[in-house]
This record gives sequence, C-alpha cells and structure tokens, in this order.
Amino acid sequence: MPVNKQKRARPGSPGAGENSRPGEVRLQRYLADAGVASRRHSELLITEGRVKVNGRTVRELPVFVVPDEDRVQVDGTPIAGAERRVYIMLNKPTRTLSTVEDEPGAARRTVLDLVDHPSGARLYPVGRLDFDTRGLVLMTNDGELANRLTHPKFGVEKTYHAVVKGYIDAEALAKLEKGIYLAERREGRTVGAVRAGHVRLKLVRRDRERTILELSLKEGRNRQVRRMLAAVGCPVKKLERVAIGPLKLKGLASGEWRELSNIEVQMLRRAVERGAKKAATGPNAPRQGKPERPGWSSRKPGGGRREGSA
Ligand code: URA
Repeated sequence: MPVNKQKRARPGSPGAGENSRPGEVRLQRYLADAGVASRRHSELLITEGRVKVNGRTVRELPVFVVPDEDRVQVDGTPIAGAERRVYIMLNKPTRTLSTVEDEPGAARRTVLDLVDHPSGARLYPVGRLDFDTRGLVLMTNDGELANRLTHPKFGVEKTYHAVVKGYIDAEALAKLEKGIYLAERREGRTVGAVRAGHVRLKLVRRDRERTILELSLKEGRNRQVRRMLAAVGCPVKKLERVAIGPLKLKGLASGEWRELSNIEVQMLRRAVERGAKKAATGPNAPRQGKPERPGWSSRKPGGGRREGSA
C-alpha cells in the first residue's frame, strides 16, 4: 500500500478526501495513539527521519496512514498500531437502547446489535438517545472526539425534530428559547432545579392538535427535550435526532448505518475546534495562570458521564 504523501488538499478543505483512503489518520496521530510519543514529539521523530512507512523513510508532513494496513517503524522497530479509527452514523429506531448492553437480566435491543462493522472495532455510542427516541447516533472508537462532541464546553449542538401534543403559544416558545428550569434528580429524588441552557428553536408547523418543532441544544441533560416540552404543557409524541453539529442524518432508513466519509469526520473535528476556541476566549474562559480542570475523561469513548440522553 503506497504511503499517502499529501499532494492533495488538506482534509476538510474543498476537494479534500478525493484521493484519501477510508480510515486514514495523520502519521503523528497514529504514533501518539500507539503510545510512541506525544503528537508534537512524533512530528519531530518524523522530521528527523526516524520513521518509515511501508519501508520508506518519511520526513515531510503531512503523511497519512491507515492503521492495520500500513507498516510503520520507528528507529527500525515495527509499531503495533492502535486500532483503526471507525466512525459510524446509525439511524436508530425506537425501542432500541443507545448503550452497548442492557441492564443485567434484561435483553432489549441495543445499537450494537444493529451495527456489525467488518473490522470488529470496539465501537461506543457518542452520547445517548432515549429508548423511544429515534434518529442519528454516532458510534466510534475515537474516545477523544466522542468526549469532545458530548462535553458542553465544546458547544456542539444536537438538533431534534419533536412532534408534541397541542398548540405551543408564543410565550411557551420564548420560555423554551431562554432556558427553562428543570428538576435536578439524584438517586430517584429531586434535589433542586437547574436552568437549561439557551435553545435554538424553529417552528415547523402547528395547529390545535399538535406542534412540530426543531430544537438545537448544546447540552444534554437526561431526557432534556422531553422534560422541557412537558414543562410548557406540551408532551412529546415523537422525537428524532436529526443532526450532531454539522453532521446531518440523511439517506439512511431506520436501523441502517454507514461509515462517515473523511470529510464528515473533519467537519466534526472542526466543530469541536471552533467550540474549544470559543470556550478559551469567551466570558467563561479560564483565567490565565489558573490550571484548567480536564474537560473530559479518558474513560471509554462517549462514556456518558455528562450526558443523559442528548
Ligand atoms: N432529549 C430527550 O428528551 N430525549 C432524547 O433521547 C434526547 C434528547
């Protein structure tokens, strides 16, 4: 397999991905994922001529490799690469758990039952959707991206279509937009109230019987959309997630999945980068000199620590 030395456009820019191979990653990232060195240090190893790909020394960046396909050596030692990064978009049907397994003793269908990727990669859903919510679930073994997509600090919006009972009036819409108070529950008990963040709303259609809305949220409290709409007196009849940041659910029947293109993965990375930049410069940015608390855990991808169902 030839080394993919980049003569093409940078990923994510117009034309990117035309000659790229599925699952390819930058060489320094591959080395960092394989535990050889940090990304920065890996760049140095490459430019010093200490890294070979498929028997050829590479010195100029960027270079892309496909884990499990390309042979990488550092100072002559073969690197057992990290697992190939896999990114899947699934159109989750209702009555399906968005976790990897059900509770002990129960055997409901999970998203893993629907996605059988030939690589055998250990995939985890990014964030959660309720059992009865359908739509876009992203699944990956890229823990870093998964955690950034779910952490509110990175501000990546999740967009939902909701069909609700009744006519939502202007006052209720304004309340939803501003952020509504939701009960905070711990161990089955209400322990206080938290104000949900700002929501972007689009009214699709409404009549006396029902209202159809598009809601975009940056946070993901447990059953947040259902609880917000119930709080303004309009219980949800149907809920579907239609987008995660710039990634839209399109062309997949219920229960179907496909791999993301490199361009789509780049789009998600950029959305996260934009969010990180905003967080670093916005009004809540950490003050200089004060160490920042780690924003995401290094646990399994999309581990759901901070996300309920969004
Ligand atoms: N909000 C909800 O109420 N449910 C979901 O599944 C996702 C967001």
